[in-house]
Amino acid sequence: MQAAVHKSAALVVRGLRKSYGDVVAVDGLDLDVGAQECFGLLGPNGAGKTTTIEICEGLVDRDSGDVEMLGRTWEQDPKALRQRIGISLQETQLSDKLTVRETLALFRSFYEHPHDVSHVLAQVQLEEKANARISTLSGGQKQRLAVACALIGDPELLFLDEPTTGLDPQSRRQMWDVIDKFRASGHSIVLTTHYMDEAERLCDRIAIVDHGRVIARGTPRELIASLGAEQMIEFASEGTAAIDLGELRQLEGIIDARLDAGTYSLQAKELHRAVPALLAYLASRGAPLTELKTHSATLEDVFVSLTGRHLRDE
Ligand SMILES: Nc1ncnc2c1ncn2[C@@H]1O[C@H](COP(=O)(O)OP(=O)(O)O)[C@@H](O)[C@H]1O
Ligand SMILES: [Mg+2]
Repeated sequence: MQAAVHKSAALVVRGLRKSYGDVVAVDGLDLDVGAQECFGLLGPNGAGKTTTIEICEGLVDRDSGDVEMLGRTWEQDPKALRQRIGISLQETQLSDKLTVRETLALFRSFYEHPHDVSHVLAQVQLEEKANARISTLSGGQKQRLAVACALIGDPELLFLDEPTTGLDPQSRRQMWDVIDKFRASGHSIVLTTHYMDEAERLCDRIAIVDHGRVIARGTPRELIASLGAEQMIEFASEGTAAIDLGELRQLEGIIDARLDAGTYSLQAKELHRAVPALLAYLASRGAPLTELKTHSATLEDVFVSLTGRHLRDE
């Protein structure tokens, strides 16, 4: 069953705030998620991602701000919204004694126009586990079942909170396939992740969240381009005392330089000029390399450049 494609925005959030005692979890956050878009909230642990989407999902009360989804608010029409969104929480506790099919049949009973259980089982590649008890499933299978429970109501907007955290690489890729397929059916997704590769791979647009606020937003390509550097150079040297960050920043092709736990990290524009300039500089300072790596700039580099911290620093 294909729901009508929605012309209006999938989700609009304005000035959202939420505190727990002294802890400000969400600190004036704005979001715009378009129809048919996969939108990612990318940020480190504690950034306020879960709080934000649980408010949008109608599970947590906000202190202030506005949330409109599919052209409606929770205050106007909670019943209709429940029918039109799908939710997969950061941690889902399903009943170990039920089978996969029984679990989906239970969730199916909550909706007015649900999918068939078999349709959703195929969507998440759990057909051969239909009669298995939840207690026998792997972590990746449990996580796909949690997403199946979010899909069974044929939602127009799907919320996925850290859909692949803790999964092995193969399970992650299976989950990505599930997300791609849902998106290809013309619906919207809001997902949270602290994996930059996942955000880069899955999301049309991203909001980078830190301390309850959006600190950057755009397509993955736009965010990376905002660095002004296409390449990153990382190196370590025995002669750290002789190396000056200010001097590194002056080298040809180098845009910025930082030192983090003994490793220098340089944003570079033209690698073919920057690397020779770096080698000449290090030779002139009598500082031999012990390690040299380069990679294309990523969202992780964007985050580090904005905050001075890594996404996964815990
Ligand atoms: N129920 C709660 N009670 C107290 N503090 C909370 C609660 N939920 C979240 N927080 C705090 O709010 C902040 C944001 O948490 P969360 O939204 O879970 O971040 P994220 O999902 O980005 O890791 C954290 O400092 C967290 O400890
Ligand atoms: Mg979270």
